[in-house]
Amino acid sequence: MNKFNIAIDGPAGAGKSTVARLVAEALGFVYVDTGAMYRAVTWRVLQEGLTPEQTAEMIALTERIELRLVPGENGQQVFVDGIDVTREIRSREVTSHVSRVSSIPEIRRLLTAKQKELAKDKGVVMDGRDIGSQVLPDAELKVFLTASVRIRAERRFRELGGAQQGMSLEQLEQEIARRDKMDEQREASPLVKAPDAVLIDSSAMEIPEVVERILDLCRTRVGGGS
Ligand code: DC
Repeated sequence: MNKFNIAIDGPAGAGKSTVARLVAEALGFVYVDTGAMYRAVTWRVLQEGLTPEQTAEMIALTERIELRLVPGENGQQVFVDGIDVTREIRSREVTSHVSRVSSIPEIRRLLTAKQKELAKDKGVVMDGRDIGSQVLPDAELKVFLTASVRIRAERRFRELGGAQQGMSLEQLEQEIARRDKMDEQREASPLVKAPDAVLIDSSAMEIPEVVERILDLCRTRVGGGS
């Protein structure tokens, strides 16, 4: 089978990462989680103690860091300057700062260049917010995966182990809505459905159904998949 690229975009909590990883596994492709790249930069920015005004320092830091994504058994492992930050980048602190860091155009340019490079040989399933629109505008298949805010909050709540993280379902719902708004309203590469992306609303779908739907699209639209 010929290799091709798949772009999966959508808001936080729509199930993109899980779906993208399973689609990649089914096709024998490489999965690239671009949100993890923005999170890794945010982790480093916080570690350095930079304030929100220190944009130039954040950009310089992004230029300097060595960012490595390593496919692993349970998804992708993330290394910043050789340190495994796979768990740390999912912390509440990183989550609450990442939208701001990812709204800086120069940081987006630097990470977009890395993402293009990762996909240049094809055979990549990449998930994010601007993959179909900016990073891989020529991707053979583009999917925009979404679900209602309530459903996404419920899924994230379960993932985080209920109230264990000290957040109620309502608080999570508000945080997701706030992040959606920031991602949609930022000037640089906002979250947007590419005109040629296939819209999948997963509110009433289980993960395997979504994966099957995408594999189907690979067969019918790209002539790939088995
Ligand atoms: O998918 P995620 O929640 O791990 O993404 C973290 C943040 O990174 C999210 O708030 C938006 C941003 N992001 C982005 O701006 N562009 C991407 N391609 C991927 C993520």
